[in-house]
Amino acid sequence: MLLEVKNLKTEFKMRKGIVKAVDDVSFSIDQGKVLAVVGESGSGKSVTSLSIMGLLQDPGKVTGGEVLFKGEDLLQKNKKEMQAIRGHHISMIFQEPMTSLNPVYKIKDQLTESIMLHMKLSKKEALERAVEMLELVGIPSARERADEYPHQMSGGMRQRVMIAMALACNPELLIADEPTTALDVTIQAQILELLGEMRKKFNMAVLLITHDLGVVSETADRVVVMYCGKVMENAEVKEIFANPLHPYTNGLLKSIPSLEDDSEEPLYMIRGMVPNPLKMPSGCPFSDRCEKCMERCRQEMPDLVDIGGHEVRCFMYSGEKEEA
Ligand SMILES: Nc1ncnc2c1ncn2[C@@H]1O[C@H](COP(=O)(O)OP(=O)(O)OP(=O)(O)O)[C@@H](O)[C@H]1O
Ligand code: SF4
Ligand SMILES: [Mg+2]
Repeated sequence: MLLEVKNLKTEFKMRKGIVKAVDDVSFSIDQGKVLAVVGESGSGKSVTSLSIMGLLQDPGKVTGGEVLFKGEDLLQKNKKEMQAIRGHHISMIFQEPMTSLNPVYKIKDQLTESIMLHMKLSKKEALERAVEMLELVGIPSARERADEYPHQMSGGMRQRVMIAMALACNPELLIADEPTTALDVTIQAQILELLGEMRKKFNMAVLLITHDLGVVSETADRVVVMYCGKVMENAEVKEIFANPLHPYTNGLLKSIPSLEDDSEEPLYMIRGMVPNPLKMPSGCPFSDRCEKCMERCRQEMPDLVDIGGHEVRCFMYSGEKEEA
């Protein structure tokens, strides 16, 4: 196993209380595989990835669990060790490329700097590698464009530069947090295709974070569905689409716009809203919005149960159903 996240807990201590942004989350990724993490806004996807990367900002704090990367717990590493791991073994791409590209440096300088740092190449060799990577991610006239500043490029091109930067040092794991949401649909598809090609070429594992289950069906091997900081369901992609168990997953699946569907019916929406993280309902966090909600759902938290490799957190599957 390349990455094993075990019982990860991350909290934000606020004046009005504690936000349990990631609450006992476990999942794993094999080498070369794509794991998608899906869930609505605020479900804890980004905080999970920042916790793995050691990039949490105050007041965020990991309060429990392990992040085993090739058997070693990243949570026990110091700043310097994590810096060496980031970029070299694990890379991350963010939703908005301008947050990671420095506006005052040319593309080539940003790329060569990170390549020199992690791959111990000379400046000349690093520049060659940078141009090669820009070509690989489909930037036309890569050598000339490397001379440009980030603002001279379109959003799609900048996202390609980000991917080139993240992949330049052959990471074993790429964490992609909503890598395409800022882009229009055609460019989105191209970038996802590119990520897929790169994954195959480098046999890299990908943790793909998205709120879009449509994206998942084409790209991922396995899916983790998160809600309010908890894993609600975790299964192979085919299994999730053929046999979704959790009412929340079902709701997300029903909300995917379909290309074939030309009816006038408005798109399905899960009723209600994600609860305020400081005022979580007691019991199942989805209980306020769930069409299957039972009496006990409002009082107790269901456990995550494993049904033949398909994990689900819902009293409908916990084995000790209430007598109707
Ligand atoms: N800096 C912060 N301070 C306080 N709370 C935070 C902070 N960052 C995140 N949170 C809280 O942690 C929870 C999880 O947030 P997170 O950003 O991981 O959600 P997400 O699933 O990535 O959502 P999105 O789809 O909008 O990116 C939310 O309740 C959020 O309010
Ligand atoms: S435990 Fe109850 S409220 Fe929660 S998802 Fe299952 S049926 Fe719905
Ligand atoms: Mg996020």
